[in-house]
Amino acid sequence: MLGVFRSFVSITLLVAMKGLFVEAVFSDEAYHIDWQRSNIGPYQCVLPASVAENNDQLLILSTFGNGTMLSWLNKTNGELLERLPLGYPVSDAMIENNKVFLKLDNGSINVVDSMNGFSLDYSPMEFSSSCNPDLSAVRFEDGKVKIMDGDSDLQIFSIDMPQDFKGIRYLQSNEENAFDIMFSTVTGNYSFTSVTDLTSTQTWTRDESLANVRACTYVSPADPNLAQMFLELTQEGSMNLLEAYQFRVKQTLDRLKNYLLERKFSVGAIVKEFLEDEDEATSKEKDVSFGLLKYLIVATETGKIAALDVRDGRQLWYYETGLRDIIKIEALRSDTEIVVFTKSGPSLVFDVTKIEEKPFLVADTNMAPAESVEKISEEGAFLFKGPDGKRFLLQSPLNPITQDIHLLDHNSEELSAFVYQNEAITETWKIKAGEQEEIVAFSSRGEEHVANLGIVLGNRTVLYKYLYPHLAAYATKSEQNVLTVRIIDTISGELLYTAFHDDEVDFNFPINLVFGEHWCVYTYFSTKPVPEQKIAVIELYESLVANERTSEPSVEVDALENTQKPQVVQKAYLYPEVIKNIGLTKTKLGITTKSIILELENGQVTILPKFILSARRVEESQLSADDKKEFMVMPYVSAIPINDQAILTHNRILLTGPDSLLLSIPTDLESTTLVCDLGHDLFCTRVFPSSQFDKLSPSFEKGKLMATVIGLLLICFFLRPLVDTRKLKLKWLVKD
Ligand SMILES: *[C@@H]1O[C@H](CO)[C@@H](O)[C@H](O)[C@H]1NC(C)=O
Ligand SMILES: *[C@@H]1O[C@H](CO)[C@@H](O)[C@H](O)[C@H]1NC(C)=O
Ligand SMILES: *[C@@H]1O[C@H](CO)[C@@H](O)[C@H](O)[C@H]1NC(C)=O
Ligand SMILES: *[C@@H]1O[C@H](CO)[C@@H](O)[C@H](O)[C@H]1NC(C)=O
Ligand SMILES: *[C@@H]1O[C@H](CO)[C@@H](O)[C@H](O)[C@H]1NC(C)=O
Repeated sequence: MLGVFRSFVSITLLVAMKGLFVEAVFSDEAYHIDWQRSNIGPYQCVLPASVAENNDQLLILSTFGNGTMLSWLNKTNGELLERLPLGYPVSDAMIENNKVFLKLDNGSINVVDSMNGFSLDYSPMEFSSSCNPDLSAVRFEDGKVKIMDGDSDLQIFSIDMPQDFKGIRYLQSNEENAFDIMFSTVTGNYSFTSVTDLTSTQTWTRDESLANVRACTYVSPADPNLAQMFLELTQEGSMNLLEAYQFRVKQTLDRLKNYLLERKFSVGAIVKEFLEDEDEATSKEKDVSFGLLKYLIVATETGKIAALDVRDGRQLWYYETGLRDIIKIEALRSDTEIVVFTKSGPSLVFDVTKIEEKPFLVADTNMAPAESVEKISEEGAFLFKGPDGKRFLLQSPLNPITQDIHLLDHNSEELSAFVYQNEAITETWKIKAGEQEEIVAFSSRGEEHVANLGIVLGNRTVLYKYLYPHLAAYATKSEQNVLTVRIIDTISGELLYTAFHDDEVDFNFPINLVFGEHWCVYTYFSTKPVPEQKIAVIELYESLVANERTSEPSVEVDALENTQKPQVVQKAYLYPEVIKNIGLTKTKLGITTKSIILELENGQVTILPKFILSARRVEESQLSADDKKEFMVMPYVSAIPINDQAILTHNRILLTGPDSLLLSIPTDLESTTLVCDLGHDLFCTRVFPSSQFDKLSPSFEKGKLMATVIGLLLICFFLRPLVDTRKLKLKWLVKD
């Protein structure tokens, strides 16, 4: 009886403990793993958003792409409230009675509402610019900006100039002894000060220097544990099996001993540490060892180079190069150096061994002007193409290229292939686009891991993928608005497949193309039969007959004599939004199902798993019972809907401008990849294309697990005497 009571107590205890640790089961990581830097760009004109007395907003005109953008800022704290790209350039502006008169380059004037940017039908009056602040009462003396009284010419207020002061962008006085002033700095900071009763009441600074990223790369921080691990592994390599086993056990025990020593063998401390939320240092250490911490190195159009923490967008350091035509930035020598190339020639090398500190310049050289620079090997060899079409190779003297390298280049008229052989580049073949054709998109198959050779069908047969690595696809437009996509062999130049789309493709919309494992995906906008965004896929197989394989696993084929041709399936789908840019998710080992990253014209970024975009989807009626057993098989439906949960930007609007860089950075966790979209705005997030199969979620309930284990131990502890007495009684044949 007592025993039953005891176990009842312990179970109650267990339930009570579980109750203590209840946490939300669903933990949304939105806004914790992603960040956005919303930029306005260089300010062209700053205006009060309204003439009303209580106006607390500023209206800013800035350049965005080839047009002008209107932005509204909260005057109190500098927070961005709204942005509206106009799509046309404005050269000057005037504000009057909540109307903004925008002067266009050709002299005509558009009128919009100053609070919301709506177009107004209003016949313009005489134009006088409101963009140039009246500086007649301002003096610049002794590193200070002094505001003078108009009548007596006495100083009434003075503010310290920022160090790299450039000018006054805004100066407005509505009542006596009160005014607002905004400075701009050479490095792209805008600082605002509001003065009432001759005392400064509020100040804020907006950093606009990271707008318009032109090139980027990333650096991984060194993991201190990794070096130790490598050392141990190399030591193990020189031992026999038994010794190695003993060695490993000893190392692990040592580690346990150190762990316990550090915590002075206090069980309380260990349990507390286990249950506690981790502090910043441990979470950073974890992010380093899982490869979730990367440093983005970006170069902006004004020549600023900055390092950003990819987890939160924090800027670690910046370097003003003053180079306004940076085309490439790359990390070299196991992420200890970064090299910067420009169109006009100057090239810089930085030492970033200590990535968290401002780097120092190692070399400043002048190269020949280049149209494009392409990294062609991991050792740091680059292919340059000059404005005259001449090509040359820059390679590291320590790691010269010894084997032949095949290169493929393209412009809007032709594809040209080269081979680098015996230290010279020779052209091998050339494909010209047709008479009235123009190459509008190109993508070659990247060299990455492919985990599966084939696709397992529902009846346990296999369809073999065509995994020949030297493939590329390009799209051309013709005068009849026909889009043609061709797949070629990049070594021989042979045409492997051609797809036409003659549904009146509108080439004013973006054409995008990416090449993945054994497929290529492209997007276009066509106007027939109804205007619609299309997304199409071409898949290549060794054979379309299940279990038929033409390649021999053990035979290495010479790419110049490759006679195996792919068999092709193709499908097109409709998509509800205009697609601006596309990319592919990259993971460390390529086991995670690939997804297509779509940047939409409406400012959202979303992902689309490749299995949805399959060329082998057929209508429901044609699917056999066996077919339905295939992994993630779906019947063909012409329209692909947007899944709200796949929208990476949540309810943010991204303005990335015409040349956005969409990139995916693999981490050391196979499930996880970092996706960034950089341009006018900067955005990064973490993506799990097949969910987080290799990581416990942050909401994983450690507390509950511990309580359950302890509860079970307690139950065992109390049940044991009960069982022992029972056994004893049984032996003596005593009845209860
Ligand atoms: C923007 O202007 C540049 C050069 O001025 C031009 O090459 C480009 O096509 C323009 N882009 C758009 C979208 O009009
Ligand atoms: C501006 O910011 C202040 C302080 O945070 C806030 O009280 C005010 O409502 C904001 N104004 C607008 C228009 O958002
Ligand atoms: C100026 O250009 C705008 C669009 O760019 C056009 O709508 C307007 O008619 C032009 N005005 C004149 C006077 O040409
Ligand atoms: C620009 O402003 C930001 C935010 O106040 C500040 O951290 C940064 O140091 C400033 N940059 C310069 C060059 O002054
Ligand atoms: C397995 O399924 C595929 C696709 O439906 C079909 O082509 C193939 O003939 C089937 N193989 C066998 C052995 O049933």
